[in-house]
Amino acid sequence: MSGPGFKKAGDNLFKIALLPGDGIGPEIVAEAVKVLQAVGKRYGHQMEFEEGLIGGAALDQGGEGLPRETLELCRQSDAVLMGAVGGPKWDHLPGSKRPEAALLGIRKGLGLFANLRPARVFPALTGASSLKREVVDGIDLVVVRELTGGIYFGQPKGREGDRAVDTMAYSIPEIERIARVAFELAMKRQGRVTSVDKANVLETSRLWREVVLRIKDEYPKVRLEHMYVDNCAMQLIRNPRQFDVILTGNMFGDILSDEAAMLTGSLGMLPSASLGEGTLGLYEPVHGSAPDITGKGTANPLATILSAAMLLRYSLDLEDEGAKVEWAVGTVLDQGYRTPDIAEEGCVPVGTKEMGDLIVRAIQS
Ligand code: IPM
Ligand code: MG
Repeated sequence: MSGPGFKKAGDNLFKIALLPGDGIGPEIVAEAVKVLQAVGKRYGHQMEFEEGLIGGAALDQGGEGLPRETLELCRQSDAVLMGAVGGPKWDHLPGSKRPEAALLGIRKGLGLFANLRPARVFPALTGASSLKREVVDGIDLVVVRELTGGIYFGQPKGREGDRAVDTMAYSIPEIERIARVAFELAMKRQGRVTSVDKANVLETSRLWREVVLRIKDEYPKVRLEHMYVDNCAMQLIRNPRQFDVILTGNMFGDILSDEAAMLTGSLGMLPSASLGEGTLGLYEPVHGSAPDITGKGTANPLATILSAAMLLRYSLDLEDEGAKVEWAVGTVLDQGYRTPDIAEEGCVPVGTKEMGDLIVRAIQS
């Protein structure tokens, strides 16, 4: 896509910051790094990796959840690959000190206002969804979620006596730039945008609708539809194939992207990209740090590996290489290999490392 997160591959050396984070984060990031190294070797790109601290891992070192050095490292890199943050160990901390605050901080600090969350069903996994096969078959949608505004960041926010306040706010420029990302993306896909809001109740949503409608004029080939968020939540389950690009704000996007992810059968399969005005992007799986399976060697690394594929495409402009990684994932799934979260009868059970090795081998083939 054009717009945010694009770089011409001229440089031979790519600098990638790694933020493994908490829980299963380090285990799954290690597999994605193996995959990126295999891609580098096969296609002749030099990649340099440097690790930074974020979340609980950073708090445990006695510092802030988002150390200044980590932000600096990311700013000096071509792309950032992140694992996950948070866990029960840090749940008692006040909101602003929690690992999740570090995640919001890095998004804001790097200006990553556009969050792309694709939900696509791999043919080998249509049976893994909790919905009927005929509903799920062929799902291929992307949630474009505004990531640095809305109720997550609006001021005032906090406690006043016996009340708590969060503020939902959006400005015209904030809506314009995320709308353009969605329309640009739709041009490269099926040409359809569904803008999701709550314009029957919220003033921010009425402004959202107005602005999206105006930006649409720049994209005569794209079909635009507006949908209320409650209806969208229902339509996603009723008939998910109707969607191509879902454009929405921060909070609605958070909720709808979890729902969309589950349609595909496993949260362990879903990648994401967070992009800004430049080429720098942050790539992370949609799932969390999974404290319950940390250290067991059973976590599914595919969401992180697919996030690495998005990294190749959007931040390094290596389209073929990204497609190769996605092809490798599809091939290994077709061969029947499964981590426990996507296991089914007759499959070949594998752990985190084996899954990473299989993808590497497919890339070498
Ligand atoms: C996500 C997560 C985060 C969010 C949390 C961990 C702060 O749910 O990336 O979807 O709400 O954005
Ligand atoms: Mg979420």
